[in-house]
Amino acid sequence: MITAVSESLPIRWGIIGAGGIATTVADDIGLSDGSVVGAVASRDGARASEFAARHGAARSYRSYDDLVDDDEIDVVYVATTHPNHRAHALLAINAGKPVLIEKPVCLNARHAREVFEAAERRKVFAMEAMWMRTNPLIRRARELIDDGVIGEVRGLRNEFGLGHPFDAAHRLYDLHNGGGALLDLGVYPVTFAYLFLGRPDEVRTFGTLASTGVDDAVAMQWLYGSEPRAQLWCSLSIDAPNEAAILGTGGWIAFAAPAFRPRGLVVHNRDTHYGIDDLLAGQGHGYGSEIAEVERCLRAGLLESPLVPHADTIAVLELLDRARADLGVRYPSE
Ligand SMILES: NC(=O)c1ccc[n+]([C@@H]2O[C@H](COP(=O)([O-])OP(=O)(O)OC[C@H]3O[C@@H](n4cnc5c(N)ncnc54)[C@H](OP(=O)(O)O)[C@@H]3O)[C@@H](O)[C@H]2O)c1
Repeated sequence: MITAVSESLPIRWGIIGAGGIATTVADDIGLSDGSVVGAVASRDGARASEFAARHGAARSYRSYDDLVDDDEIDVVYVATTHPNHRAHALLAINAGKPVLIEKPVCLNARHAREVFEAAERRKVFAMEAMWMRTNPLIRRARELIDDGVIGEVRGLRNEFGLGHPFDAAHRLYDLHNGGGALLDLGVYPVTFAYLFLGRPDEVRTFGTLASTGVDDAVAMQWLYGSEPRAQLWCSLSIDAPNEAAILGTGGWIAFAAPAFRPRGLVVHNRDTHYGIDDLLAGQGHGYGSEIAEVERCLRAGLLESPLVPHADTIAVLELLDRARADLGVRYPSE
């Protein structure tokens, strides 16, 4: 099924779900020279047609099936809530369409394996929309660390607090809609720690639950051997600066908030102390590097992005599965 998209034609995106993040990412697709919003589908036909008009999409659908069957769509972007990602990703894959799936790619690692195996069987591109991994400053930090600028990495901290007041009806607090801090927010600190430190030998998790049964505030301590190297924290209800730092034997790198889309880096070691500015400043909402990565992979005929490998996405979900199990959070659709 794999067919590379021509260099000279824009990538035509079809969006499933016309909600919050779909609007934000569609804005950035509109800023890309290599992409256009081709079509959108929503359960609510009026919402779909308003969305299409706002983002210059040629077509809107009230049915997700019709969108994935649209021959003038090159890639499907699944922008529905977490419990729907698996079914909507499989819908696109089974129609032979490449797919970008919002984070977390699925509710758990078992579902994620199912999606990626289906994509591999059908030979279509699939990627979690973990935009942090495509961010140029995150990639720069990896290069600096690989070059030994801060010595051997020995510690890392990363937090994501949203400060969203409790609201039992909101998806973030709704167990039936995949609510909870770990899957919505914690996926960033966990991906960050996995990216820079790899798989821990042991994870200790502490947390509190909201009255709806979702995890609200969670702290994780990751041990490598007996050494506690990663301190990760997330919360739905508590606001936080959302900074991060990586500590090495010869220095440190600080990530200016928000760490999942850094506004700058500060690099410090015995010889030097300098800042690196936001490389995405003034370029939309910051999703341009993710859109560019999807464009690059589709034009190269790749099935998987080297920046967001399937194995890493699954490994992160395994860690989130284990943390949720420690807290006793289980989704009805699992
Ligand atoms: N990458 C990022 O920076 C980022 C930021 C925010 C969110 N996200 C992710 O994006 C996804 C959507 O988040 P959002 O804030 O955009 O959510 P949202 O606006 O509440 O919902 C998005 C869409 O999901 C569908 N939906 C919502 N509730 C549903 C339900 N109970 N049953 C079936 N479908 C439902 C609707 O599609 P229809 O239009 O068809 O009705 C809705 O428009 C989440 O997985 C989240 O983790 C990513």
